[in-house]
Amino acid sequence: MDIIWHSKSKQYNLYNDKISYIMGITPLGDLGSIYFGKRIHDKEDMSYVLNRFGLPNVAVDPDTESYSMELNRQEYPSFGITDFGTQAYEIELANGSRVSAFVYRDHKIFKGKHALKGLPATYADVNEAMTLEIYLEDETARMSLTLIYTIFDKYPVITRHVKFTNNGTEITKLTRALSVCIDLPNQDYEWMQFSGAWARERVPEVKKLSAGSVSIESKRGISSANQNPFVIVKRPKTDDFSGEAMGMSFVYSGNFLAQAECDTFGRLRLLMGINPDRFTWPLKKGESFETPEVVIAFTDEGLNYLSQTFHDLYNNNLVRGRWKNTPRPILLNNWEATFMDFDEDRILEIAKKAKEAGVELFVLDDGWFGNRNDDYSGLGDWIENPDKFPQGMAGLARKVNALGMKFGFWIEPEMVNPDSNLFRRHPEWILATPGRKSSLGRHQLVLDFSREEVVDYIYGMLKKVIENAPISYIKWDMNRSLTEVYSTELSADEQGMVYHKYVMGVYGLYERFRIDFPDILFESCSSGGNRYDAGMLYYAPQAWCSDNTDAIDRIRIQYGTSFGYPISSIGAHVSAVPNQQTGRNTSITTRANVACFGTFGYELDLNRISDEEFEEVKKQIIFMKENRELLQFGTFYRLRSPYKNDQAAWMVVSKDRKKAIFGLYCMRSNVNQLPGFIKLAGLKEDVKYKLKGEEYYGDELMYLGLKLAKLSSKALATGQDFISYVEILEAV
Ligand code: DGJ
Repeated sequence: MDIIWHSKSKQYNLYNDKISYIMGITPLGDLGSIYFGKRIHDKEDMSYVLNRFGLPNVAVDPDTESYSMELNRQEYPSFGITDFGTQAYEIELANGSRVSAFVYRDHKIFKGKHALKGLPATYADVNEAMTLEIYLEDETARMSLTLIYTIFDKYPVITRHVKFTNNGTEITKLTRALSVCIDLPNQDYEWMQFSGAWARERVPEVKKLSAGSVSIESKRGISSANQNPFVIVKRPKTDDFSGEAMGMSFVYSGNFLAQAECDTFGRLRLLMGINPDRFTWPLKKGESFETPEVVIAFTDEGLNYLSQTFHDLYNNNLVRGRWKNTPRPILLNNWEATFMDFDEDRILEIAKKAKEAGVELFVLDDGWFGNRNDDYSGLGDWIENPDKFPQGMAGLARKVNALGMKFGFWIEPEMVNPDSNLFRRHPEWILATPGRKSSLGRHQLVLDFSREEVVDYIYGMLKKVIENAPISYIKWDMNRSLTEVYSTELSADEQGMVYHKYVMGVYGLYERFRIDFPDILFESCSSGGNRYDAGMLYYAPQAWCSDNTDAIDRIRIQYGTSFGYPISSIGAHVSAVPNQQTGRNTSITTRANVACFGTFGYELDLNRISDEEFEEVKKQIIFMKENRELLQFGTFYRLRSPYKNDQAAWMVVSKDRKKAIFGLYCMRSNVNQLPGFIKLAGLKEDVKYKLKGEEYYGDELMYLGLKLAKLSSKALATGQDFISYVEILEAV
């Protein structure tokens, strides 16, 4: 890994063993893109890549009379000069003009990576990464711009973000400040997005790119289950095992935009950042705005390798603290077992049985506080309900501890019910537009987290509960999108700041918890996977993946999630059947076989399953304890897509490739067909692995494939719905 500055040609080359990222200063003094992709040789001067000629009907620079931005690839383009593509940023000056032209002034190259103020971001020590900061200036606007690039040593990854500063005396308005633009010289790509909705999150969807734009966005104030802030751009032939692909992941949890734009001269422009819609950030003299970070990975080794890159990077350089790379406790959450209908006796009854099964952590979900017996009231009143818990959270937590389990609980700090003491006392603390009704979502309103005093107050209330009880885990929920977004605290000119300030408020609160209670394991949640993004992982290393706990649907949801997020982050539980959301019946084996490729836990009352099932649960927990490190942190391979087949398959391989765990799931029966073979991955070719008592060479399993009838000829040949197999492979 290195970052080279060729001062004669004014060119930068950021490279590591796998990738090169090359750019240079153009005849106009701004930054132009030269190359991003598989590593190539460094060369003093590659400026031949620039097009220094006009074409009919193309606007050119008046000084050079031959250079058009439209015919060249930019690093961080603006609109209004000679490029008509979508711009990465826009600044409105006090005189109403919106044309910008930043030119190169200086740069700094250093080892390691700086943190982003108040924002989540990947981190790296001096051996792990190098950073380049390029300083540009627009004299007319009296603004400076810093483009910040980090290249990682071990990963084919570049991170990018930018910072604007107003050096003038007049207020300027940033009306668009995306984090990244990547212009590529070729449009033969497909765009892959992960769309969905509540209970059907992150469905991979692929579109061929052609002239025009494709984009996804969120305007909900959260990243959302509808569109995930992670996209892949890949060659049409790229699959899980081969081919070129680029992934872009936004380390941010609010409104976003991700876009691919093909112009009619062959340029593909990729953009990602805070959604410019509803965003305006006024900058007074001396003030700066720093955008969140985008992580960009490139590979020519297929989508599994691309995903593994994100998994490893996020496990090693995004997740922080006590739970980094640490196998996650097996938990039991009472939500689907009781909803809000419980008291201490009922909770302890569930907890005792959980302990008997081997569960390590008991999680008390929604309903423990205020007057919260249904979802119409209580949010905002973070004080234990004495009718349910006479000795408070502390009393219950100690009793759970005495059983031999850790204790955790649920919160939804960003929300308030109209029927709550908090709202009665502070009706002005919600996001609400003057003169308009406030829409409800799950009967609740959104607190104005752009205001410090609101965040402080919520922190104070929750801190008391946490300090008084032995708390090991917190599930932080968020159950609605933001509407009527307006903050009474801000002036008319500042209303475009609210969405982002809200997110900063959420991050600020998370950070306070993290600092004051560093051992607590946080799990983020937003009606399941409504805020499943890299930003959240910086604070909460795991996320409740979906409220849909049906094992068969979960195969798809977890499969889709695996493209951009590590298995260690996927909150996955075994719940009761018939399933609450789908009504489907699946065996306890299949439910666990899916959940074990995740953080693993239970979401049911173990008193209410059969004795045989309970015996199986005990075995599942033993299996998980023995194998969770591998399952959660091993190298994960998608083998067969549940979106294209009736059977899905995936596996994890240990870093030393001596052990692997394979999962096969029959989602729909295949009557009167041969089960066939499935090619495994990631094994050592010349090592023999033992699987179900038989030995196979790694190459045999990878290139001939595993004969599925070997798992269970009877079941597979007769093709039962919803059966599944999880098998261990061990090097002999
Ligand atoms: C939505 C979450 O996704 C559920 O797991 C549960 O915590 C409920 N909220 C509680 O209200």
